[in-house]
Amino acid sequence: MALLETHDLSKAFGALTAVNAVSLRVEAGTLHSIIGPNGAGKTTLFNLLTGTFPPSAGRIVFDGSDITGTPAHRIAHLGLARSFQRTNVFPAFSLLDNVWLAAFACSKSWRGLLWRRADRYPEATAQARAALADVGLGEKADQPAREISHGEQRQLELAIALAAAPRVLLLDEPAAGLSPEETRRMVALVRALKGRYTIVLIEHKMDIIMNVSDRISVMHFGSLIAEGTPEEIQRNAEVRRAYLGGVAA
Ligand SMILES: Nc1ncnc2c1ncn2[C@@H]1O[C@H](COP(=O)(O)OP(=O)(O)O)[C@@H](O)[C@H]1O
Ligand SMILES: [Mg+2]
Repeated sequence: MALLETHDLSKAFGALTAVNAVSLRVEAGTLHSIIGPNGAGKTTLFNLLTGTFPPSAGRIVFDGSDITGTPAHRIAHLGLARSFQRTNVFPAFSLLDNVWLAAFACSKSWRGLLWRRADRYPEATAQARAALADVGLGEKADQPAREISHGEQRQLELAIALAAAPRVLLLDEPAAGLSPEETRRMVALVRALKGRYTIVLIEHKMDIIMNVSDRISVMHFGSLIAEGTPEEIQRNAEVRRAYLGGVAA
């Protein structure tokens, strides 16, 4: 079953059509990657999916419901969580507090916020600890966020996304700017999350994409030009011309 679908989704910025009639089906439980050259419209597609701005045309269906035009905070509550290419970490707060905030923000216990201490929300705390453990930062829960390495910051951002108990996790270039060692750790992490979450991954490192994806959609100048398994995409002549160049030839 498709958990997330777009139907002829488009977004124009003035004369530029950044996303052009994209129809995408993300099956529940899969890792579905979106690849394409810089400026292809991948991040704009994520911005549409998360309600950052409304589409110019087309529809978004999440778990059978039309969510087109739903504002970002409501979409987050519905279970579409995004990580990366956007920083939402408070440097002076501990890792646990950072993740706790995200867990709390999506919990139903907003009432009483003003007169209950943070430690009286054991559910949010347990959820935050579990998310930190999931990304391998369990041991550092009490350290301030500013003290951890760049790679660990990215893991923390991922924990923040996980704390919201998402049904779909949108990852926009999780390995961008990471060292080879940090990249390896991030890839291992994404692999470990695979199967537990439905994941939509934007990435341009082809070795990562070919390694972790169940399905790959290829964007070029705002349009989807191909979709298939990693093997099918590697064999696709149009994709090679448009994007892979000499890499897969
Ligand atoms: N908020 C915006 N306003 C105007 N143009 C934008 C905006 N966001 C993206 N674009 C343009 O849309 C195109 C697609 O960008 P983007 O979605 O970031 O591509 P990708 O993530 O595939 O590199 C680019 O030409 C970019 O300059
Ligand atoms: Mg981008």
